[in-house]
Amino acid sequence: MNENEDKRDPAGPAEPRAVPPHNPYPVVLEGQPALVTGANSGIGKAVALGLAASGADIVINYIADLPAAEEIAHAVEAKGRRAVVIKADVSNEAEVQAMFAQAISHFSTLHVVVTNAGLQRDAAIDEMTLEQWNKVISVNLTGQFLCAREAVREFKRRGVVQGVSRAAGKLIMMSSVHQEIPWAGHANYAASKGGIMQLMRSIAQELAPYTIRVNGIAPGAIRTPINRAAWATADAYRDLMTLVPYKRIGEPEDIARAAAWLASDFSDYVTGATLFVDGGMTLYPGFATGG
Ligand code: BGC
Repeated sequence: MNENEDKRDPAGPAEPRAVPPHNPYPVVLEGQPALVTGANSGIGKAVALGLAASGADIVINYIADLPAAEEIAHAVEAKGRRAVVIKADVSNEAEVQAMFAQAISHFSTLHVVVTNAGLQRDAAIDEMTLEQWNKVISVNLTGQFLCAREAVREFKRRGVVQGVSRAAGKLIMMSSVHQEIPWAGHANYAASKGGIMQLMRSIAQELAPYTIRVNGIAPGAIRTPINRAAWATADAYRDLMTLVPYKRIGEPEDIARAAAWLASDFSDYVTGATLFVDGGMTLYPGFATGG
């Protein structure tokens, strides 16, 4: 199939596209170790591999499924980069601190940190338990705070390394289109991502004078286990496409490419921004034919 052919499939769940044989990433992150949380599956896995393809050595954080994390470490090594797998619950302060200490002693430093780990515990608001609320806020919001704090401590300690990167560090926080789009039945999740937006913007403002860049990525519907019900059947996929003007589901690699760009000096003047990677989901698709 020609690379430029339109592979969008409005009718049913298309298979993920074949990975092109050449490396589609510019190799611009050599000498810049990167830590990715929740890197054993979904978006985190793709981001870890994309940063490795860009030249970075990778810390693969996971909480469950060691074999999957190790498989990703092997894939990173197959790209000629070093990998270390570290288990930590991002919502646990002591575990996060131990993970950063281990990562920094292993690779000497970190230049890129992607706070990606996140989950959903969906419920109608009048049925949502405090446990469901707390779980989502503690992983999606507090977990990103804890990892961001450790990242910033290391970036400030080390500062800019001439010839490696123009910035003293790049922090990329995983948000969602639901930092903007309200989401009935998912109030805890939407609240966590709205929180990420202002956490990200506030620390971007605080850290710009230190040459530390902080940005967010807001994925739309991406083909991962978190939203399998939304794409796994032809009917579900058709319904999903009514929300996606670009008429295809996102692939984890769509997010990986955005992360690689935000991690690199190509985006050196970008801080405090949220990059929406959503096929137009935030463009009020219902207004395409009305209003
Ligand atoms: C959620 C997915 C959802 C997507 C678009 C993401 O942040 O985790 O479950 O499909 O937003 O609504």
